[in-house]
Amino acid sequence: MENLERKKNAMKVIEDEVFALTNSPLYSERTKNKAFPVIGEGSLSAKIICVGEAPGRNEAKTGHPFCGASGKILDELLQSIGLRRESIYITNIVKDRPPLNRDPLPEEIVAYGPFLDRQIEIIEPKVIATLGRYSMNYIMNKFDLKSLLEPISKAHGKMYKAKASYGDITIVPLYHPAVAIYNNKTKDTLKQNFQILKQFI
Ligand code: URA
Repeated sequence: MENLERKKNAMKVIEDEVFALTNSPLYSERTKNKAFPVIGEGSLSAKIICVGEAPGRNEAKTGHPFCGASGKILDELLQSIGLRRESIYITNIVKDRPPLNRDPLPEEIVAYGPFLDRQIEIIEPKVIATLGRYSMNYIMNKFDLKSLLEPISKAHGKMYKAKASYGDITIVPLYHPAVAIYNNKTKDTLKQNFQILKQFI
């Protein structure tokens, strides 16, 4: 089977599994709020994958990642380096919205993390840009870089080399775009940090 077809099928299996995840810690939020899980979207042959934390209200309403206020910032950042949203893959660790947008709980990360792991194996990105500290912690731990973990205030904009099952990758921790909504200084920092991704386009 053609590679892209194989990837589409594998992603569809993940989507079906997440939709059927009635025992997930956030399933009741989905039904209570008539919300959707957010699987992710973009190119399945992307060199770059952006990993956020969890869907917010707009995302859970529509099923699309980063389509609210944080998404506007993300779009602006991608535009600033001439990167089209469709050319990367955008997803989150947690696929359902935590109530009131609170931070994801450890058990939620345990429940949804394996889906992200499989998405990475399907897409085989060269670069994983983590958005926010939860995503940074998860990805750095996953790729055995726990000993290099620092607070995001120190780690943002650095490049960490790691080995994935399919080859060498670079992990780039970035601040979460939500932090830049009301903070222009963080937005400038994010813009600077996004320049790092240019070399991988
Ligand atoms: N914040 C995230 O981490 N992910 C989204 O999809 C939206 C907001």
